[in-house]
Amino acid sequence: MPEKLLLSMRKFVAPEFVFGQGAISLAGRQVAGLGVRRALLVADPGLAAYGWPGIVEASLTDAGVETRLFNEFSSNPRDYEVMAGAAAFAETGCDALVAVGGGSTMDCAKAIGIVNANQRHILEFEGVDNVERPGPPLLCVPTTAGTGAEVSQFAIVNDTARKLKIAITSKTLIPDIALLDPAVTVTMSEELTANTGFDALSHAMEAYVSNAHGPLTDLLALEAVRLIYANLPRAIAVPQDIEVRGAMLLASLYAGMAFSNAILGIMHAMSHGLGGLRDLPHGQCNAILMDAVTDYNYEAVPQRYDQLGRLLGARFDTGAPVSEKKAAVLGAIRDFKQAVGITMGLADIGVPRETFHDLAIKALGDPCILTNPRQPTVAEIEAIYESARQPRS
Ligand SMILES: [Fe+2]
Repeated sequence: MPEKLLLSMRKFVAPEFVFGQGAISLAGRQVAGLGVRRALLVADPGLAAYGWPGIVEASLTDAGVETRLFNEFSSNPRDYEVMAGAAAFAETGCDALVAVGGGSTMDCAKAIGIVNANQRHILEFEGVDNVERPGPPLLCVPTTAGTGAEVSQFAIVNDTARKLKIAITSKTLIPDIALLDPAVTVTMSEELTANTGFDALSHAMEAYVSNAHGPLTDLLALEAVRLIYANLPRAIAVPQDIEVRGAMLLASLYAGMAFSNAILGIMHAMSHGLGGLRDLPHGQCNAILMDAVTDYNYEAVPQRYDQLGRLLGARFDTGAPVSEKKAAVLGAIRDFKQAVGITMGLADIGVPRETFHDLAIKALGDPCILTNPRQPTVAEIEAIYESARQPRS
């Protein structure tokens, strides 16, 4: 019998984007087409050596758009860095933002935009639909394959006082244009490729089991999982393989559109606390939590997890007992993590057990938890953190 959800009302939003080799060279033409005179180029400081921000800057200059560079921000951008960026935007008379980098860079640019348009502190936008006015035009060039920030209505900012990454969700945060060029992602290290690839996988999985999923987000989420399973190990082993890099970037795009519209779940709600506490790589946090979160959520939507598990290599008969299917799904996740070198638990990355209670309270306050297929208690979230202390064998 078809699922009743098929006919439930669902809205889907996505920006204009260009995918393919050479897309980065369109930056100038695209920004000039928006009537922009001067753009703040928000660029990951670590990327200068690879030349990508320079290529975008040259493209803007050729199209008659002036640029001012802003690169004084961290991975997991901090609240005060966003406010400094907004001040730089105003002081230099910019009228648009261009982001070149991974999720942190794009989130920083999104945050600078809404601070500027609304003249409020960035932390005041926390939660869902708290942004009154959209920011100035924003073009994004992602340099990693995982975040999905180039198409999403999310921005994540580090609240340094509360030691927590806050989630801001608003349609106004969707960039105007994204340029997805596989060539830009070949400079990622093995570790960054694995972590960002698992971030994309976590987006696809959480979107697929979300309470807010629909036919279109399902289509995108399942194809993202298939592409990630088929391509991530080779993207790590042969980083210059442009076909494989392209497949991963496409997977990230699909997963990004899926989660931007179906939203996420407890994996992200729980990893936001970890990222704020220890400034840990976001994708790595999701990957560490993935087994324990699946173990907890499985009973709410077993058939959905079975489908995800099959795409990750799990083998079981359709008529097998539920416990057998669940074990196969969890085994597939464990094996795939090991295949890409993610073999640590929370204890290995320095997250002490004493932090679990506070982390659980923070996770319960994260908007991503609202669409999780099971609504956990504080004690249950603590138990999931506990279960993720050691990697599964
Ligand atoms: Fe994520």
